[in-house]
Amino acid sequence: MSNSLFRTKKIENILAEGSDDPHGGGGLKRVLTLRDLTFFGIAAILGAGSFSSLGGAVFHGGPGVVILFIITAVACGFTAFCYSEFASRIPVAGSAYTYAYASFGELFAWIIGWALIMEYSIGNIYVAFSWSDYFTSFLDKLGDTMHINLHVPDYFSNSYSEVKHAIADGSKDPEILYAWNNAPVIAGVKMILDIPAIVINLLITYLVFRGVKESRNFSNIMVILKLFVVAMIIVVGGYMVFSSGTTHNWLPENDAGVKSFMPNGFGGVMAAVSGVFFAYIGFDAVSVLAEESKNPQRDLPRGMILSLVICTIVYILLTLVLTGAVNYRKFDGVGDPLAFIFEKDNLNVGWMQFFVSIAAVVAMTSVLLVFQMGQPRIWMSMSRDGLIPPVFQKIHPKFKTPSFSTIVTGLVVGVPILFTDKTFVLDFTSIATLFAFVLVCGGVLLIPRKEKQAGRFQIPYVNGQFIFPLIVLISFVLAAVLYKGYFAGMFNFDFSNNPDYVSGKITFMDAATPNLSLIIFWLSAIALSVLAFIKKYSLIPLMGLITCMYLLTGMTKSNWAWFLSWLAIGLVVYFLYGYKKSRLANNPS
Ligand code: ALA
Repeated sequence: MSNSLFRTKKIENILAEGSDDPHGGGGLKRVLTLRDLTFFGIAAILGAGSFSSLGGAVFHGGPGVVILFIITAVACGFTAFCYSEFASRIPVAGSAYTYAYASFGELFAWIIGWALIMEYSIGNIYVAFSWSDYFTSFLDKLGDTMHINLHVPDYFSNSYSEVKHAIADGSKDPEILYAWNNAPVIAGVKMILDIPAIVINLLITYLVFRGVKESRNFSNIMVILKLFVVAMIIVVGGYMVFSSGTTHNWLPENDAGVKSFMPNGFGGVMAAVSGVFFAYIGFDAVSVLAEESKNPQRDLPRGMILSLVICTIVYILLTLVLTGAVNYRKFDGVGDPLAFIFEKDNLNVGWMQFFVSIAAVVAMTSVLLVFQMGQPRIWMSMSRDGLIPPVFQKIHPKFKTPSFSTIVTGLVVGVPILFTDKTFVLDFTSIATLFAFVLVCGGVLLIPRKEKQAGRFQIPYVNGQFIFPLIVLISFVLAAVLYKGYFAGMFNFDFSNNPDYVSGKITFMDAATPNLSLIIFWLSAIALSVLAFIKKYSLIPLMGLITCMYLLTGMTKSNWAWFLSWLAIGLVVYFLYGYKKSRLANNPS
């Protein structure tokens, strides 16, 4: 028995397991083409991030948030190349988890598999909550049009945790107050729960359980519809921004009365990182469909990159339309920003409001579907490796889907809907996914370089030996020159000028986390430059690694605390079960 925590799986063995050989553990239907995979990518990417969390992001960063969209797109672009390299070498289900097994070894693979539960399942909780927001407002608008009451009572369309926190913070929102004061009480407990979010989760679980083919057709139709509506928002909204002369919103005044593209400075832009990054999550989900695609080596990388490029263009345009249409300050607490810009007080296009709320429901349904399909497939891979019980790889004899894993996914998404809220799950998902991306990019640096093979994707090798340290040096100089006091501020741990710290609203560690994150980031950049110089590392994965690490500097102390606790629980589970039951431990080959 191999006792090493860093035992790695041989790529040949992973491929043999994922082949169509019935003894190899395969058995999923190979039906997906490049178009399907690209559509899956878009289905997973365009959703709650753009339709919901974009409002908060714009409120923090102003129009300048478009810069964060570009930085994040660059980080995700480099990461997509890394996913593609892995997906082309190891075209089996399991995504980043499988890749880590081949590069970093079992312990890291487990950690990634554990972190991916955050991306796939916990992320879907955010999407289900946002779905419910738009669905209930769609019902309200439909009811108004048809003169019937279709309103879902507020205590059945909000989560308990959200209402409770809002009440504790002194919210005056009538919806929150109504929910709190009128909820039925059973055994002393206020019955506040998000029923539409629970119902959509049940429906999606059923659909995924029934099979990928049905889900694929459904998903493709939804993607076409949502791209059409997003294009309408850009065209109609963009036209109105110019025709109604609101372009001055791109340079709003900040509190000091200065006109600026980034009214709250770059700090304000970085405060939006969870929301913006969340909007991009999803391109990587394509890689979990390796065993169901017809030509995974060729189509997975193309599908991932194509979907990412399309969504990046959409985000940049959407953010410009949004911030041009309305002053950024008006987005405070707005959960349906794309419909909001068409309201009476803003661009005043009633039919667009209606149209957008339908599209939002459609968009988010397709996101739910893709992630709900992804999670069971990751568990299936982990189960094959012996890290979780064998029942997780059970394939339904008729529908050919991982039936048990699918049902457990439904529960992992559904049960926390009762106890969590949007902000919490958004932050949690973003930090865990960024962490997984960092490991995937790092993993590509560790696997041996290979000869180019016709028809297979391979990251073009650009020697990072000199270029990477030079990029770090130029960034260092630019930061020092463009942002006076940037480095001095990083080492300043005297927070007596920080009103939140002085008033006791935040602790010393809360205030110090951004500084500490930046210090760790720059030290890592220097260490990576040295390694790149010595080992002649490939530039693209290096850039993926460093850009994702930079995005992690936007995370708060409580994000880190929750995430590290989650990892700690994962380690306990691993040592109690996976470490002993691992197939590699019992059959090292
Ligand atoms: N990117 C996906 C969304 O925005 C997760 O819903």
